[in-house]
Amino acid sequence: MLSTSPGGVLAGRYELREKIGQGGYGEVWRAWDRNRSHEVALKLLFRGRPTEAWLEASLLTQLKSPYILEVNNADLIVDVPFLDTALAKDSLDRVCASHGVEPHFGVESIRRALRGLALCHSRGLLHRDVKPANIFVRANNDIVLGDFGAAALMDSRGTAEAAGDPRVRAPEAYLDGRQGAAADIYGAAVSLFALLTGRWPFDQVMQAALDVAIQAGARPALRDLAPHASLALSRVVDQGMHLDPSRRFSNAAEFDSALGKLPPRINRFTPIAAHPNHLRCWRVDGKSDLHVCVEAGDTQHVEVTHAGSGRRVGRLCVPCAPSETAATLRKTFDNLRKG
Ligand SMILES: Nc1ncnc2c1ncn2[C@@H]1O[C@H](COP(=O)(O)OP(=O)(O)O)[C@@H](O)[C@H]1O
Ligand SMILES: [Mg+2]
Repeated sequence: MLSTSPGGVLAGRYELREKIGQGGYGEVWRAWDRNRSHEVALKLLFRGRPTEAWLEASLLTQLKSPYILEVNNADLIVDVPFLDTALAKDSLDRVCASHGVEPHFGVESIRRALRGLALCHSRGLLHRDVKPANIFVRANNDIVLGDFGAAALMDSRGTAEAAGDPRVRAPEAYLDGRQGAAADIYGAAVSLFALLTGRWPFDQVMQAALDVAIQAGARPALRDLAPHASLALSRVVDQGMHLDPSRRFSNAAEFDSALGKLPPRINRFTPIAAHPNHLRCWRVDGKSDLHVCVEAGDTQHVEVTHAGSGRRVGRLCVPCAPSETAATLRKTFDNLRKG
């Protein structure tokens, strides 16, 4: 375990101020860099790194892009390996409520992360831990890919040892313990699923059950959890999460461009906290501002009302059995999508 505490000084230059996070691979501190007189996020890694770590460290500090939370400095072969990175305002796991984010925001966020990932791959590095907690919001609200704490150099076959959060780890990583760029693509698709639904596609608590579910692809359909997502969007997510790595997008840029080709939105569907006595609710912004709500009961009701007056949009209000609610909502949103 690390014996770090507030006031401690690392590498003769970083004054640890406050612990701001703890993950499977280490802990993150807000720290003052005495050399450069500014605050940074210092990620302290629990595990030592292999001998090529000095090369990884120098490659990481060279990853400069509008889509990447920059690594200012890294030392991976000292007693407490660390990454000094820019301090972000927030991370997408914290921005994402349990009901998920507005799809356009989710899509645009993942597109930016994919551009960061494309640069990472072009330098021979795998990120290995693409997930909402590692996609950050900068002070100016730009979304960037960050946390290269699990990053590794690709071997001659383009792979590295399986690593990262088990919930976003690709099926092939479970199968043979190695992963390549396709696993990062998979992680980006899992992240998009999580942002759209507010849930992990695979949320088994026990590692063995998670392993089995991921390898079998046993997960809810995106549009069962997020009926407001378009069919085209759900197909892109499905392709990114394909069990067979060769059937996913062949690279991050191709995934980005598939997301860019989605039909333009006419109305915006934002999941919101449920009103009293409602099960799920959305705000619709567009030609008219509406609410779509699911009212509880033995027979549930999908109710569409004007946001200001509360007046019902009769033709879109329908009763449905609980087992049909997701299908009914999909129809409702598909109708609203047409304008
Ligand atoms: N550069 C950073 N700037 C601001 N907050 C950060 C930064 N890096 C990490 N954090 C915060 O610390 C938390 C834990 O990070 P981490 O140890 O990487 O665990 P994980 O990514 O597995 O959640 C993140 O969710 C985030 O809220
Ligand atoms: Mg992280």
